[in-house]
Amino acid sequence: MTDTAPVSYLRPHAEQAFAGELAALHRLDDRPRPPQWRMSPWAVVTYLMGGTLNDGTVISQKYVGQRRLMEVAVATLATDRALLLLGVPGTAKSWVSEHLSAAISGESTLMVQGTAGTTEEAIRYCWNYARLLAEGPSDQAMVASPVMTAMRRGSIARIEELTRIPADVQDALITVLSEKTLPVPELGSEVQARKGFNVIATANDRDKGVNELSSALRRRFNTVVLPLPTSSEDEIRIVSTRVAELSAALELPAVPPALEEIRRVVTVFRELRSGVTADGRTRIKSPSGTLSTAEAISVITSGMALSAHFGNGSLQPDDIAAGIVGSVIKDPVADQVAWSEYLEVVVRDRAGWSQFYSACREVSG
Ligand SMILES: Nc1ncnc2c1ncn2[C@@H]1O[C@H](COP(=O)(O)OP(=O)(O)OP(=O)(O)O)[C@@H](O)[C@H]1O
Ligand SMILES: [Mg+2]
Repeated sequence: MTDTAPVSYLRPHAEQAFAGELAALHRLDDRPRPPQWRMSPWAVVTYLMGGTLNDGTVISQKYVGQRRLMEVAVATLATDRALLLLGVPGTAKSWVSEHLSAAISGESTLMVQGTAGTTEEAIRYCWNYARLLAEGPSDQAMVASPVMTAMRRGSIARIEELTRIPADVQDALITVLSEKTLPVPELGSEVQARKGFNVIATANDRDKGVNELSSALRRRFNTVVLPLPTSSEDEIRIVSTRVAELSAALELPAVPPALEEIRRVVTVFRELRSGVTADGRTRIKSPSGTLSTAEAISVITSGMALSAHFGNGSLQPDDIAAGIVGSVIKDPVADQVAWSEYLEVVVRDRAGWSQFYSACREVSG
């Protein structure tokens, strides 16, 4: 069966885009479910890793990587410890967090986006000031945060980029995670978490401007580190799948699957990231950008838009050259040197890459 996302939304939530798969899992799953979970831990892992159900329903693969990592993540959420997904940018932390919440609670939108400006109110609650002034503090005047709403419903709350949140604000989570309650002193009351409540936080260890997690908070999380895709075949599979989904959602005029260009982008990114060519023979400089899988996905998607609207309708090396150069050269001086060296030493003489070489030379100036 196929899932059809509502066409009018630019980006449907996981629970909308995969409603059919979630309903089938919910229906067919007869294993024990933790309180308030919409399906068993086994079914949640099946939703993430893909498979075929007894009635023939095909569940698509959402996460490409080790099944064990997803099992540990899901098992953690069935305990009283929260889950921290850690890893370099673009390793599917937010993606996994969204799908886990959709499968477990049926909703992935109880989310706080962590920034340097995140305040305690965003994690606890704030007030509707008009009502507060007119009526004084009351339940109706209180505006619950996504975390408080998740506690009330017994759902999963998501906190994105936890380590961007100032340390003292992060600490507002300690009571929530250890006591499972949020006191509301103004009303002399509290909100106690219903069974099923838990928190999934994501953090990446590469960005500038991050705050350390306090050890008190860290102790309340089980950490699962999401790695970069191990093989280039895995990375190509991730990029191809996501590009197909994205271009369908964007309703780009059909551009045939362009495995050759996807392979090229993934090869360039992996070689530059690791500082050595795929055959292990030539050492090269790594540029400063992260060159993540997520960026490879966007290079290909932009290339497809270029090709569909301004090119010949099939993805060509010059449709992806500008995108690659833009991702690689983040620092105009040092990265430019690394990129020129890579072009001359590796790309120029590689069999089948001459058109790509010329296209890159043209945009690199
Ligand atoms: N192992 C993987 N399996 C499936 N999809 C992946 C994998 N790695 C990356 N992706 C894809 O990469 C894209 C970006 O992932 P996501 O935004 O979740 O990264 P992130 O780890 O949260 O990065 P950031 O630290 O920048 O927030 C998603 O579209 C996701 O599908
Ligand atoms: Mg993220």
